[in-house]
Amino acid sequence: MGVFRVLLLVGLSLLVVISEAAIPTKTLRQINKANRDGPYLGLVIPNQFELNPLLQHPSYKPSNLTIDVSGKRFRFGTVAGEKAILVMTGLAMVNSGITTQLLVTLFNLKGVIHHGIAGNADPSLHIGDVAIPQYWSHSGLWNWQRYGDGPENPLALEASGDYTRDIGYIKFANYSTTSTDNFLNNVWYQPEEVFPIDGTPEERQHIFWVPVDPHYFNLAKKLEEVTLEKCLNATLCLTYPPKIIRVARGTSASIYVDNAAYRSFIYDKFEVSPVEMESAAVALVCHQQRVPFITFRAISDLAGGGTEESNEADAFTPLASTNAVEVVVQFIKILSQSLVRANVN
Ligand SMILES: *[C@@H]1O[C@H](CO)[C@@H](O)[C@H](O)[C@H]1NC(C)=O
Ligand SMILES: *[C@@H]1O[C@H](CO)[C@@H](O)[C@H](O)[C@H]1NC(C)=O
Ligand SMILES: *[C@@H]1O[C@H](CO)[C@@H](O)[C@H](O)[C@H]1NC(C)=O
Repeated sequence: MGVFRVLLLVGLSLLVVISEAAIPTKTLRQINKANRDGPYLGLVIPNQFELNPLLQHPSYKPSNLTIDVSGKRFRFGTVAGEKAILVMTGLAMVNSGITTQLLVTLFNLKGVIHHGIAGNADPSLHIGDVAIPQYWSHSGLWNWQRYGDGPENPLALEASGDYTRDIGYIKFANYSTTSTDNFLNNVWYQPEEVFPIDGTPEERQHIFWVPVDPHYFNLAKKLEEVTLEKCLNATLCLTYPPKIIRVARGTSASIYVDNAAYRSFIYDKFEVSPVEMESAAVALVCHQQRVPFITFRAISDLAGGGTEESNEADAFTPLASTNAVEVVVQFIKILSQSLVRANVN
């Protein structure tokens, strides 16, 4: 009787502990089972309108498995014959960082592919083009300098290594329409603190420009021959064929940039092409977890407007989402051919 009561108590307290964990035991079992069928490509997708064209693409074959964890839905299936897990992050850096971390922590992955639409800072790109940057940065980690200080003055906490003047700054007074000064003074761009999986916990490293996987970026060169759709429907078409192009840099922040002065500034300063709200978070997680990663971003507007073309941006957003998905599918085909070749050799 006594032993039974103790066992009962132990059992009950285990139940309590289990029900308090973030991931229920039943879900952990589903995850372990799914991982035995891996490795998978992880497809990280910001918003519903960027997910839907992939769910509807003929190359996507869903299995009947979805696993819900921490408010995110992980959908299993194949894309162009490759085993894949699709997950929608929701808007901006926190959501995309959390979702990517869950994906790479929980699942047996061979790589991460991210796609979506983006604003554009690069005058050589147009609506509907798909940009494939080699590097991504988070440009929303700032050290905002007090009024009166300038480039010759150390930043707050710079001496302790928390902040740096290496990357550069924006001076708000340069954008005044009336006077030549502004109490908003200077904002200095900062690298992220990172703690890679093969580093020492709590020992920080810094990175601003996060490279995509060099092998994926090389393979992506083959995409430049792919032809993209230029018509939204029977009557509305772009006046030029959209192109797929590898570019040097893209940048992200939890900031919707619809401002021509800022767009020109970040292009002049950083030579970035796509400007959006998630890729750098995905990049930073994959970089730290040492998971291969690449992003495809279809241009949906010229951030801040200012051209005739930009007035049509809203109308062409669905075309941009579709083009981004098409590039993902074509990339997976190229990737799986390269894997087959690697196995044959
Ligand atoms: C659904 O998935 C389970 C587990 O993989 C499998 O046993 C079952 O046969 C599948 N059912 C269908 C209809 O595909
Ligand atoms: C501000 O404007 C001056 C004069 O045009 C220019 O030389 C300088 O590079 C600008 N500085 C910043 C940080 O934008
Ligand atoms: C094409 O799309 C535009 C923008 O959504 C719409 O205004 C127009 O009616 C569409 N044309 C056809 C033939 O569906």
